Parts: sequence; C-alpha cells; structure tokens
Amino acid sequence: MKPASSSAEKKIRSLRKEIRRHDRLYYVESRPEISDEEYDNLVKKLESIEKEFPEFDSPTSPTRRVARGISAGFGKIRHAAPMLSLENTYSSDEVKEWIKRVERLIGDEKKEFVVEPKIDGVSCSLVYENGTLLRAATRGDGETGEDVTLNVRTIRSVPLALVKIGETDNPAALPTTIEVRGEIYMEKSDFARLNESLSAEGKDAPFANPRNAASGSLRQKYPSVTARRPLKFLAHSAGAGARTFPSHMEFLKAVASVGIPSVKASGFSSSVEIMRHIRRAEEQRDNYPFEIDGMVVKLNSSLQQERLGSTARQPRWAIAYKFAPRRATSKIKKITFQVGRTGVITPVAEIEPVAVGGVVISRATLHNFDEVARLGVAEGDTVAVERAGDVIPKIIKVESKNPSAVPIPPPKKCPVCGSTVVREEREVAYRCVNPSCPEQIERALTHFASRDAMNIEGMGEAVVSQLVAKKMVSDFAGIYSIKESDLLELELFKAKKAGNLLAAVEESKSR
Ligand code: IVH
Repeated sequence: MKPASSSAEKKIRSLRKEIRRHDRLYYVESRPEISDEEYDNLVKKLESIEKEFPEFDSPTSPTRRVARGISAGFGKIRHAAPMLSLENTYSSDEVKEWIKRVERLIGDEKKEFVVEPKIDGVSCSLVYENGTLLRAATRGDGETGEDVTLNVRTIRSVPLALVKIGETDNPAALPTTIEVRGEIYMEKSDFARLNESLSAEGKDAPFANPRNAASGSLRQKYPSVTARRPLKFLAHSAGAGARTFPSHMEFLKAVASVGIPSVKASGFSSSVEIMRHIRRAEEQRDNYPFEIDGMVVKLNSSLQQERLGSTARQPRWAIAYKFAPRRATSKIKKITFQVGRTGVITPVAEIEPVAVGGVVISRATLHNFDEVARLGVAEGDTVAVERAGDVIPKIIKVESKNPSAVPIPPPKKCPVCGSTVVREEREVAYRCVNPSCPEQIERALTHFASRDAMNIEGMGEAVVSQLVAKKMVSDFAGIYSIKESDLLELELFKAKKAGNLLAAVEESKSR
C-alpha cells in the first residue's frame, strides 16, 4: 500500500534537505560526513518516492539537477545591469595611487578596503527569484550573455533553492530575489584529473588550462556531460537588485549564509597592509586550490561605492592587481615521446632551461600530435612556454621558426618497446598496443600507488621504476608480493625504510 500522501511529502522534504546538506558538505566545504554509497542511497530513495508521488515534484529537487535528453541551446540573456570588468594593473605603485585617489574622493569618512583573489575562471550571473535559481548567464559582451542555465544547474555548489544555513529552511526568511555574480572555475587537481581521463579516452584534446576546461565544460551541448565535469562556483559581486547590502563584505557573508559559496575576502584600511597582503598572496599563489591571476581590491562600503560610480566599462571603486605572467621564451632542443599508463604517446619538448615564475623548467608537454601540427612546432624553434600553478608546463606558441626545422610525425613504433603504434578512429591519441610495454607498466603502477588511487606512501616513481627494471613487479598484484629482501636491493633502502613501505602496502589493502 502507498504510504499516506502527507507522510510521503514529509519524507520527500526531509530527504531533499538532507541531500542538499550533504551536497554542501561535499562540494562547498570539502568535509563529507557520509560515504558516496550512503549518499547514492539517499538519492535513490528520494527518486523512488518522487516517482510514486509525482504531485510533489519540484524543479529544485536534487534529483532534477541534470535535464535529461535536452540539449542546452544557449539563447541570449540581457543582463539587468551591465556586467562590468575591472581596471587592471601589474604595478604595485599604480595600486597605491589608486588607493590614494579613492581616499581623496571619499574625503574624511572612514574608508575600508577588501582584498580577495581574482579567480581565473568564467564570469557568470545567477538570478534567483523567490529563492529559486531562475537563470544563469555568461558575461558575454557585458550587456548580453549566453543562457547557460541548464548546464549551471548541474554544478553541485550552486544551490537550486536558497536555504538559510544552520537555522531554518523557511524561504520567507531569505533574500528571495537576487542576482549574484561570480566565477565558474575548475580546481587545479580536478583539471589535471579531467585532462588525464580525457586523454586516456583519447576522444577529446585535453584542455590547455583550468579556465579553458571550465569554459569548455560550461558550454557543452548536453547538460549530462557538464554534470560529469568538476565545475565549481564562487560569488564575488552583487548584481542588479543585490545592492541592498551595506557593504561588500556583508554581501559575501549574506550570500554564503543562504548556501551560495563566496570568495574569501580580507578587510584592510591602509595601503601598506593591502600591499603586504597582496604580496603574500602572490607568494602563496600555488597553494590556492584554483588558479588565481591576481588580487582584487574593492572599496567595502556600498554607499561609498555608489558615490564613486563607474565608467562605461569599469567601476571606479575596484582595481585588479595582476600577478607577473608565468610565461617565458626558450628554444626546443629536442622533441621526445612519452608513453603513458594507458599506452597513449605524448610528445614532449625538451627545452633549454628557463625560469618561469620562479621555477626553472626544461621540459614542456605538447599534449598530442594534433597540437604539434596546430602549433607547427619542430626542433630548434623558439617557443613561448607557460607554467600554470602545479600544472605541467606547456608550449603556447612558436615565437620564431628554425628555418631548417623538419616537421615531427607521430612515431610508427613505440619509443620504449618498439611495438606498433596505432591511432584509433576518431581519436586524437596514438597508442602503443603492447600491454606489457615496460613504460606503460611503470606509469600504471606509479598511478596505482599514488595518492589519487591506493595511496601507498613511499612508492613513488623512483621506487616503481627500480621494481620494474629489476623485474620484481610486473602488474598490480605483484605489489602485494614484494618481499623485504627485494626492497633491500633497491637504492637507499635499509631495513627501516623497507619495513615502512611493506606496512604501507599492507595498509592499502583496506582501501
Ligand atoms: S569583481 C564590477 N571580483 O574578473 C566588478 N571579479 O575583469 C565585477 N573576477 O569578469 C567583478 N575574480 O568575472 C570581481 N574577486 C573577483 C573576481 C572577479 C575574478 C573576474 C570577473 C570579471 C573579471 C574582471
């Protein structure tokens, strides 16, 4: 027998609430309380009751994030107020001058500034009406953007319905109609994993950086594809109708309190403090989970912001200090081929060592052979290299051609084991077909032991490479029959280190 309809409604409400809470814990706060399996079970339970009681259907149900069978059309949306951009500078003197100018214009009143990271993502406007996500649009030309609602609905950190966090979920208590602007982005680690799986599938060319990955993922035709991309959202500015907050800081807090993650900002009142904070952020740049290309300084008070106003394109109350670009020029000595764990062969440029953003690099990836052709690179060319955070350095473009350069064709034989190399239909990737290729085995084992997989501490590339070379391990199972006497034959291994590694192998069995 069907449960009474009112009890079903209650159950639906409480499941939705619980799932939303777990979404927030997982996608926003990164501190999940339940396992993926328990989470999936909650969703399945909700789906089944919703199916039985369609009268309680709601577009903001967590089961309705991904529109099925519909392709995103990207119509045009006119922004209620133009989406402005920011004045940019690379000079700290210009930031100091800007602060002085703002202080002069404001006069005697107390002035407070906020400083926050400039996230390198895709600008997006979210419109909530009566507490429900109505529309999402890209910035476009500032006046008119693209309608990306169906795809943005799949981003788990974007609430479909606003909730008061911690207290009540009574919609009457919320700022119900509000436009929030922010950045859609991809974390660096998620970007690296996505690229790895895209190139393993060999169907898509990997993305050049997290921003391109975010932009490409947001513009997918099918929301079900976007749903599988690890996109996130952080609010950073108030849109039309959201200017009722007394300050920027209060806006960010209010937004976070209804479940929309917002950027972390710090308040300062002097030029010296602001510049110190910016310099520290630049030093810490690689420690941010996402790419930042600078810091934004904003005047905090909304009244003061209004008094300063905007030019046609930029507000006078904010400025972006951009970090030094992590790009340099070098010469390609040689192009080599690297075999990945799934056999995909990646061309790599060995370059004359050059410092890029404080790190000396001597190799940069060329991604795949389509990319080699697109860039038109060859040995001896002078190229621009870019390093983005902890992402592998890459070649951006050819600055000047080596006049006697010869084009680099994809290899016909695996550079490591000599087996045949094939390119599957509709794939970008070329692969070594030999499953026992030692390089593939080494990469696969290294990945298997890495933090992203079995997390066997102490089993890095150097150890795996020796284990494979000495034929002590040739597949995953082999890891579990390594003996102490094997390990003692490896470089720098003594009893203690061997014992630790064996313990780590043992421990990984429970993962
Ligand atoms: S404020 C009216 N704050 O950078 C000012 N923008 O050219 C609106 N961005 O398209 C922008 N992080 O999408 C602001 N913390 C931040 C930001 C930020 C990234 C983007 C924004 C805009 C571009 C500025």
